[in-house]
Amino acid sequence: MPATTTPATAASVAADAAAFDASDAAEAPVKLAVVVGSTRGGRFGPTVAAWFAGHAARHGGFDVDVVDLVDTPLPAAMPGFDGPSADDAALLAEVSPRLAAADAFVVVTPEYNHSFPAALKHLIDLHFTEWQAKPVGFVAYGGMAAGLRAVEQLRQVFAELHAVTVRDTVSFHGAAGAFDGPDPRDPAGCSAAATTMLDQLQWWARALRTAKAAQPYGS
Ligand SMILES: Cc1cc2nc3c(=O)[nH]c(=O)nc-3n(C[C@H](O)[C@H](O)[C@H](O)COP(=O)(O)O)c2cc1C
Repeated sequence: MPATTTPATAASVAADAAAFDASDAAEAPVKLAVVVGSTRGGRFGPTVAAWFAGHAARHGGFDVDVVDLVDTPLPAAMPGFDGPSADDAALLAEVSPRLAAADAFVVVTPEYNHSFPAALKHLIDLHFTEWQAKPVGFVAYGGMAAGLRAVEQLRQVFAELHAVTVRDTVSFHGAAGAFDGPDPRDPAGCSAAATTMLDQLQWWARALRTAKAAQPYGS
C-alpha cells in the first residue's frame, strides 16, 4: 500500500492555526505587572516590591514589570465620561499600556486604617478592560494586621472588574522589622508563600490567555 497523506483543507489549516495560537498562549512567558500601591513619603513599599519582583523573576516563566505610582503619576481627578483632558491622557499613556500588556498582576499593598491606599484605588478606578479576565495576587504588609484587611477589601474591588484574585497571599506584619535591608529576616516562610502564589497566578494566566485566544472575554 502506498503511503497517503491527507490534503490540507481550509478547515484543517484553520484548526492548525488555532492550535498554534492556543499552545503559544499556554507556553509564552506570563507578563506580570507588580503594582506598588504606596506613594507615601518615606514609604516602605519599594523594599517589599523589590524583594517580591526578584523572587518572581527567579521563579521562571514570568516577564516582570514593576509599576510604581511614584514614577507614573496619575491624573489628579477621575476624567469625565467625555474622556480625559490632553494632560491627563499624557499621564495615562505612561501607565495604561503597561497594565493592558500584563497577563497577570501582583498588587503590593500596605494597610492604611483597615483598608488600602487611596492612590491604589485611583489607579484601579482609572482602568477597566486592563484588569478584565486576568489573575491578581497580593503581597501585603502593615502593622499587626499584616495588610490582610486591605487584601480582603481589594478582592471585592477586583471582582467588580472581572478579575480573578488568587487564594494565597504573601504578607508581612510589622513590615519594617521583618526586613534586614533589602531581604526578609526569615526568608523561608515568605519565599514559600511567594512561590505558591506565583504558581497559582501562572496557572490562571495561562488558562485565561488560552481561553481568550479561543474566544475574547465577554463576547
Ligand atoms: C495612615 C496610616 C494608617 C495605618 N493604618 C494601619 C492599619 O489600620 N493597620 C495596620 O496594620 N497598619 C497600619 N498602618 C501601618 C502601615 O501599614 C505600615 O506603616 C506600612 O509600612 C505602611 O506602608 P508604606 O510605608 O509603604 O506607606 C498605617 C500607617 C499609616 C501611614
